[in-house]
Amino acid sequence: MCGITGYIGNKEAKEFLIEGLKRLEYRGYDSSGICVLEEKTLKTLKAKGKLSNLIDITSKETLSSNIGIGHTRWATHGAPTVENSHPHLSADGNFAVVHNGIIENYRELKSMLEDKGFKFVSQTDTEVIPFLLQYNYKGNILDAVKATVGMLKGAFALVILSTYDNGRLYAVRKDSPLILGRGEKETYIASDIPAILPYTKEIYLLEQDEIAIAEKEKVTVLNKEGKEISKEPFSITWDVKAAEKDGYEHFMLKEIMEQPNAIEKTVLPRINNEKVDFSEISLTEEYVRNISRIFIVACGSAYHAGIVGRNLIEAMARVSVQTELASEFRYMNPIINKDDLVIIISQSGETSDTLASLRYAKEKGAKILSIVNVKGSTIARESDDVLYTNAGPEIAVATTKAYICQVQVLNLLAIYIATAKGMINSSEHTALLHGIKSLPREVSEVLKKSDEIKQLAKKFKYTENAFFIGRGLDYAVALEGSLKLKEISYVHSEAYAAGELKHGTISLIEEGTLVIALATCKTLFDKMLSNIKEVKARGATVVAIVSGNGEALEKEVDFCLSIPETCEMFSGTAETVLLQLLAYYITCEKGYDPDKPRNLAKSVTVE
Ligand code: G6P
Repeated sequence: MCGITGYIGNKEAKEFLIEGLKRLEYRGYDSSGICVLEEKTLKTLKAKGKLSNLIDITSKETLSSNIGIGHTRWATHGAPTVENSHPHLSADGNFAVVHNGIIENYRELKSMLEDKGFKFVSQTDTEVIPFLLQYNYKGNILDAVKATVGMLKGAFALVILSTYDNGRLYAVRKDSPLILGRGEKETYIASDIPAILPYTKEIYLLEQDEIAIAEKEKVTVLNKEGKEISKEPFSITWDVKAAEKDGYEHFMLKEIMEQPNAIEKTVLPRINNEKVDFSEISLTEEYVRNISRIFIVACGSAYHAGIVGRNLIEAMARVSVQTELASEFRYMNPIINKDDLVIIISQSGETSDTLASLRYAKEKGAKILSIVNVKGSTIARESDDVLYTNAGPEIAVATTKAYICQVQVLNLLAIYIATAKGMINSSEHTALLHGIKSLPREVSEVLKKSDEIKQLAKKFKYTENAFFIGRGLDYAVALEGSLKLKEISYVHSEAYAAGELKHGTISLIEEGTLVIALATCKTLFDKMLSNIKEVKARGATVVAIVSGNGEALEKEVDFCLSIPETCEMFSGTAETVLLQLLAYYITCEKGYDPDKPRNLAKSVTVE
């Protein structure tokens, strides 16, 4: 979604404003802009399309200033035009604002302001904010900010620059994330950590309804009541290199390749004395023994991880698990009570529907355990317990390593709950631990097949439709494999439970239709074989994914890719990595940029 940068210090503001926006490009955007205060004038430059268009314009301007704000916009209200891009100015040119989120009551505010003679130049919801600042300004900027924020409904992160004060930026946060970083005699503001990673590792996370006043020498934070509060800086452990391509052509490929390491970092610290160790959270064995129902709630790939989790927890621990899409869950009036455990999964920890579901479940008294990648994010902070995925920063829009690490936490949880409930004996327990510890090696084996997968991808350069089929855990993996392919390569792709094909979808199979058949589940192998024959009989081109059972299939299909033979419960991990590579290489073959798929955003902070 949109990205925000802000700077006040001794350097040229435009340098960081642009550099920071570059580092937020991965979030998805369709226009951009910056505004600096030169002498007593707000100077704004904006461009439609790629950030390089803005860089072209700014490189022709001197823009000499030590204070400014920047923004990449992902259009919601109004097309991606120069007029609609941020920063937006007040009618008198004294306030400039960048905004992430949506102002839900902007229509009422706009008509109130129009009645008072204000003339709007954009179609955005955001423009009401600088106009309100002008309207509320009676000589004190902070009072104007407070009055304006009090009139806004919805989700927002704002940074405000004014001609009335060349020594301060004002930052406000409600639901949309915003951070401030302190350097030497300078303060950085950004909507996400990667923007400021090369400059400082000491950051302040703004919390709900807080206002920060950023100066060269310090940051002052006020709470909702306007009282100054002391805030401890938070130290980021991520390495700058982790947010750079490091020689890879795309972030996505780099992140796929990082997966053996990310799995190790997520799993190994949580296995002690041959037992899953969750002492970092309050989920005691006694609590776990008494859980009767679990909900898993998430969006996108995190939801797919939740489906894998449901399969694993139900199979191993025999506890009933319901996995729900957060955008549905929050409005379906779900029956939840204080005895339920609600697991919230989110890479960013900021997804608006997921956060709303968390708050709903919390209100009903359920215990909230979240699985989150970004430390200190809103979902992490509002949960009773957090199990962090240690995937490091994920830049490519299409998640790979964060998803894989979410699955690992669920693998560990399934073992933990099953053990506490006495559902697995000691030899099964040993086999499961061995299985999960072997995953980094097995994923490395799959990564070695990159060239083979790349060659295969060449055959699908012109493919327009694909079906992913599987049964059991393979079906859960098919959902993620299919999403990966469609979101970056624009191939229309559907995931189907293989047994369900005959109830409609098989009518779409014709000569040459691509079918990716996931056939690693040994117990369901024969059934899969029948389904593969059914689509073959109708002319499909079948790529089968197998695990130690390739021979039986090789003659039946067009192409066969194998993953190492593994503990069946965890075969989804290596299988998913293989499908990520396939999606990546098909996308490259088609000439698209896998890191920046059209219309998509990394972190979806609006409904
Ligand atoms: C966006 C991303 C997906 C991600 C989903 C949920 O759609 O493009 O990759 O799975 O949001 O995001 P979260 O941060 O909550 O995991």
